[in-house]
Amino acid sequence: MGKKRVVVGFADSRNLARAVAKRSRSEYTEAELKDFPDKESYLRYKTDLKGKRVYILRSLNDPNRKIVELLLAAYTAKELGAKKVILIAPYLCYMRQDKRFKPGEAISSKIIARLFNACFDELITVDPHLHRYKSLNDIFIIKSKKLTAVQPIADFIKKNIKTPFILGPDMESYQWARKVASSLKCGVDVLKKHRYGSETVRIKIKEGLDLKDKGVVIVDDVISTGHTVMEVVKDVKALGAKKIYCVCTHGVFAEDSLRKIRRLGASVYSTNTIENAVSEIDVTEMITKEIK
Ligand code: R5P
Repeated sequence: MGKKRVVVGFADSRNLARAVAKRSRSEYTEAELKDFPDKESYLRYKTDLKGKRVYILRSLNDPNRKIVELLLAAYTAKELGAKKVILIAPYLCYMRQDKRFKPGEAISSKIIARLFNACFDELITVDPHLHRYKSLNDIFIIKSKKLTAVQPIADFIKKNIKTPFILGPDMESYQWARKVASSLKCGVDVLKKHRYGSETVRIKIKEGLDLKDKGVVIVDDVISTGHTVMEVVKDVKALGAKKIYCVCTHGVFAEDSLRKIRRLGASVYSTNTIENAVSEIDVTEMITKEIK
């Protein structure tokens, strides 16, 4: 008898999707994608989806094209008779514009959520950027599950970093920084950040923070342009930290930021919600647990 669950991967989510399929004993299939000459997207399934729970797994960094492809994937799965169509977006896009900061701006998080509400039955994601929203339920009407990479991150630090001291670069990072530190039973502090634009942030480090001989680990949900963590790295260096690490759930690393952060002397690690050169922290197990 054929399997009742199918995990759908894409070329850019193949490794994680395959690993999740294998561990959850689900069928794995890869959606075939092509561009028409005019750059419109083409998608085809090469397996039977009728009556199955279909888990479409793809992280939504670099999201615009992927969103269109996901719409094709979700609606086609339904038309082909899938029992349920579930989006696993380990990195969920468009979560940071959660407010009209200037008159006339699109609140993109709500608009993208509306699209996903219309074509998926459920959503599973990891450490979504919830700032002004209290929960995913504020914008998603479909069943949604928020996982967190706190434990895999804490386990990684325990195994690889001596005498850690955890720093959260801003109040939003408190939720991760505090939990990671409490799991490691080590010191933690959370700094104050002012963002003046996507390129400019200022962070105030507390006077008297004793970081001498500590392995300072800056923990955040996302590293995108890297400006947030780079500001902290510069301050922390000045306070005499022995080694500096930047660890995040989602390594977006826009604008060559991985190289820029490393050039400042910090080591960088992320989970594999987005696969990159430093995605050493594995989230396969926690995602697999959600596949029933
Ligand atoms: C913002 O509040 C987030 O938690 C991250 O600190 C932020 O998104 C990182 O962005 P960037 O790397 O562009 O400074």
